[in-house]
Amino acid sequence: MKNRDSYSHLRGESLYIDDLNTQQGTLYGLVCDAQIAHAKILDLDIVKAEALAGVVKIFTHSDVPGKNQIGGIIPDEPLLAETDIHFWGQPIAFIVAKSEAIAKKARALINIKTEALPVITTAIEAFEKGEFVCAPRTFKLGDTSKAFKNCDYIIKGNTFSNGQEHLYLETQGAYAEYHENGKIKVTSSTQGPTQVQKAVAKVLGVGMHQVEVDVIRLGGGFGGKEDQATAWAVMAALAAKTLHKPVKYVLNRHDDLRMTGKRHPYDSSFKIGLNKDLKIQAFEATFLQNSGAAADLSPAIAERTLFHATNAYNIKNVNTTVHSCKTNLPPNTAFRGFGGPQGMFVIESAIAKVAEKLNIPAFKIQEANLLQDNDVFSYGQIAMQVEAKNTWQSAINSFNFESNFKAVKKFNSKNNGVKKGISIMPICFGISFTNTPMNHARALVHIYQDGSVGFSTGAVEMGQGVNTKLQQIVMYTFGLAKEKIHIESTNTTRVANTSPSAASATADLNGKALLKACKALKERLFNVASKNLNIPDSELSFKDGKVCQNSKPTHLSWEVLIETAFLERVSLSEKAHHTTPKIYFDKSKEKGHPFAYHVYGTAISTVAVDCIRGTYEIESVKIVHDFGKSMNLNIDMGQVEGALAQGIGWMTMEEIAYDKNGRLLSNALSTYKIPDIYAMPKIIEVKVLESDGHKMALLKSKAVGEPPLMYGIGTYFAIQNAIKAFNNNYELKFDAPLTPEKVLKSLYSNAFKL
Ligand code: MTE
Ligand code: HPA
Ligand code: MOS
Repeated sequence: MKNRDSYSHLRGESLYIDDLNTQQGTLYGLVCDAQIAHAKILDLDIVKAEALAGVVKIFTHSDVPGKNQIGGIIPDEPLLAETDIHFWGQPIAFIVAKSEAIAKKARALINIKTEALPVITTAIEAFEKGEFVCAPRTFKLGDTSKAFKNCDYIIKGNTFSNGQEHLYLETQGAYAEYHENGKIKVTSSTQGPTQVQKAVAKVLGVGMHQVEVDVIRLGGGFGGKEDQATAWAVMAALAAKTLHKPVKYVLNRHDDLRMTGKRHPYDSSFKIGLNKDLKIQAFEATFLQNSGAAADLSPAIAERTLFHATNAYNIKNVNTTVHSCKTNLPPNTAFRGFGGPQGMFVIESAIAKVAEKLNIPAFKIQEANLLQDNDVFSYGQIAMQVEAKNTWQSAINSFNFESNFKAVKKFNSKNNGVKKGISIMPICFGISFTNTPMNHARALVHIYQDGSVGFSTGAVEMGQGVNTKLQQIVMYTFGLAKEKIHIESTNTTRVANTSPSAASATADLNGKALLKACKALKERLFNVASKNLNIPDSELSFKDGKVCQNSKPTHLSWEVLIETAFLERVSLSEKAHHTTPKIYFDKSKEKGHPFAYHVYGTAISTVAVDCIRGTYEIESVKIVHDFGKSMNLNIDMGQVEGALAQGIGWMTMEEIAYDKNGRLLSNALSTYKIPDIYAMPKIIEVKVLESDGHKMALLKSKAVGEPPLMYGIGTYFAIQNAIKAFNNNYELKFDAPLTPEKVLKSLYSNAFKL
């Protein structure tokens, strides 16, 4: 089945916040944000701005009726700044005017007097000064100090991976309406409608029942709207509630880039120990996460870094610690992989560095340490149904790795101007919110009297295709064509208390709830059919709009059955609740079984570096991916390709830059380069791993949203290998993104002989 949105997307008919028909009298919001990264506010003068014709009101923290607080995990983030400024771009006032243009003029009239304070922009500096957003976390397995004593090789090193801008096509935004009796309805471009509802209620000082949040779809979220869609929705709601008018606020790209947080930059150090047989005996790492000025989701992201610090390898002695360092940058936030990619980059760097020292290819070390069934992760979960070796071997065989490896060597021995590099990147990614209580979802299904079906879940469609998968569930269970099924918007009034659409788990969680609701309705309808046809339930099924006996159609159509059930006063509505079984995590011991299952895969990347210019081409990325039993391979392949592009962008070209005063320099698409069609691998091949799937996945179709991003890490190491082939005095560097500028410098670093 095609993505159900493809028709309206192609025709430009799909609705986003900025497409909503605004009501008469709609007002427009605009944030006035800090133009300094760390300061005391001495004076905030809005008099001139508020006097401008067309300005309705300018809100500051003192206009908040409830709590001026939107921190999700830790209450450390004011909606509007009070006495201090903590990052460049921090919202200080919310201007509401009759047009966007007037609001913009008013913004220039606001006068803010500040007293500058020292600015911290790097995690290392924050760490040295003892500035943190929360306590550090440590995962330990075995005894690394003891293990290091018996290692044949011990290698230490440092790594840096930079942040990444989400660059969702649809910028952040919301539309808030004032309804009767003080009720507020907010249409928001958020991955977390319940988070928005909760924050609006808290800031307005009302109950959650007075706030309805509706989400049609997102023009991309990528984690950037898990937490950070909230502020704008709350501001619009605050204005709507106060002014009794509809208020719209859609950020322009500049404001969005400046005010929102990004993927966390990490400064990390590692120590790895191996024996002569190349088995990794011990691994230690310290991760300094650049959390930004408030906690946001940083504690949960830090945790996932530790969960994925050993990637797809079995290491018996592990000691990893993460520090969430408080800096004067916009609070960094969720981004596809949620800290996992940052962890995996470090272990892959450690392995690459050992390989360099031993003068052997890294894949020999990777291969010698791949995870197997019954191995224990550092967090205590026992690995089961492991596909690490399967995907690895399948990739090696299917893509003729050995002959390609030799071909690259041969090419390099004959060419000086261009050098090639090849690398292998295995991945292992845990599926479930690492915070166990979040792993639940609900669905609501109505069969209407005419046999058509409408349903709702807590899932948010953001391009990943979850709505198509959910529609498939209803089609399969009732044997109905897709035209008979309508999926409602995601709405807190229909489905309440939802977890955000995140952690790649949206289809699993909401789909399982939906399946449960549909199955309950099916059983109920089988009862009606059984009585009417005089056939036992066990012989019944639904197919192509008919009730079937032993898979053969009877005379009873779906429509007649529904009409009959309705006349017999049988309920045609059902809701269901799903929770992931078996998972738990004990934070006091840092041990448990947090993941329903893991997703595996292996990517082989080949690159060609132009050794005169420092530019490179990714010749191919060939992947064997563990989809389980994919329920929609079109969509899942799209997820692999999109995630790979995003991973390559993070690792090779997307360079976020702040100056030392904390001002974003890469504040437009002229200074922030994301991959385009030319940056993509010339060849992308994705092979489906033959497997039985996993029963904890929806119809055994494994979660696919985030894991393939980490295939992009492979291109970093392929380029490193090409540089090394040109300049054998070069010492591997682990400083992502590996931009052409850095490649050029590396090609000519240290003395070397041509
Ligand atoms: N794909 C598209 N097209 N747009 C997105 O915003 N978000 C990614 C991934 N794939 C995203 C996407 C992220 S960060 C996650 S967690 C998952 O989709 C969320 O959806 P899922 O749980 O249905 O996989
Ligand atoms: N993944 C993504 N988002 C989250 C998680 C997680 O594990 N926990 C809380 N939000
Ligand atoms: Mo995805 S980073 O879990 O929204």
